Amino acid sequence: AILAPAAGPLAGRHALVTSGPTHEPIDPVRYIANRSSGKQGHAIAAALAALGARVTLVAGPVTLPDPPGVTTLHVESAREMLAACEAALPADIAIMAAAVADWRVAREATQKLKKEPGAEAPTLSMALNPDILATISHHARRPRLVIGFAAETEHVVEHAIAKRARKGCDWILANDVSGDVMGGDSNRIHLITAEGVEDWPEMSKGNVAQRLAQRVTDATD
Ligand code: CTP
Ligand code: CA
Repeated sequence: AILAPAAGPLAGRHALVTSGPTHEPIDPVRYIANRSSGKQGHAIAAALAALGARVTLVAGPVTLPDPPGVTTLHVESAREMLAACEAALPADIAIMAAAVADWRVAREATQKLKKEPGAEAPTLSMALNPDILATISHHARRPRLVIGFAAETEHVVEHAIAKRARKGCDWILANDVSGDVMGGDSNRIHLITAEGVEDWPEMSKGNVAQRLAQRVTDATD
């Protein structure tokens, strides 16, 4: 079939989006992960595609279907997610919505750890994972607009303002995860930019995605 060129206000733009958790292996049958359904990141990828962007979605392990009209790359670990993101550059816009595991197990066992009779529980030694958002924000081929999320359980806006500075990104979408947002269908967002803080009313993750895609369109005109 011959595809018509993408139409819409983001036509000709390439957007990179991360979504879902990462899985950090302990041994062949066990892993450490973050809580994340991928609903918000996948909705953002779909909303950008609906406005005509070419979208590369780097997704950790999720049970969601690949969004239509989006190139979806499936990864497991934070290091794989970073490699896929760097390989996808250049991009005009990057939105890092994944719940990346901050730590991985320092030495992944090649064989299943065995529970020997009488033995103590194992101690896991951890290593720091790369920060994908910070790496992309300081990249030689930095996208023009880099956006991160901040999942906080307290002092949401203060932590998010500090996080924006620390990461070197343009915008942070802060959300309060002290309730049951994880896996839920709605979000209350505070958008942190260089200009200040915008409080969005509680809305569905689909509506957050549409509102963000519209803001991205206005900012990259
Ligand atoms: N992020 C990332 N790579 C990591 C950790 C986080 O790209 N290794 C991104 C997330 O996708 C999100 C943003 O950074 O867009 C903030 O993630 P968050 O976990 O809230 O921040 P951290 O810097 O990891 O701080 P902390 O978990 O201590 O609050
Ligand atoms: Ca973190």
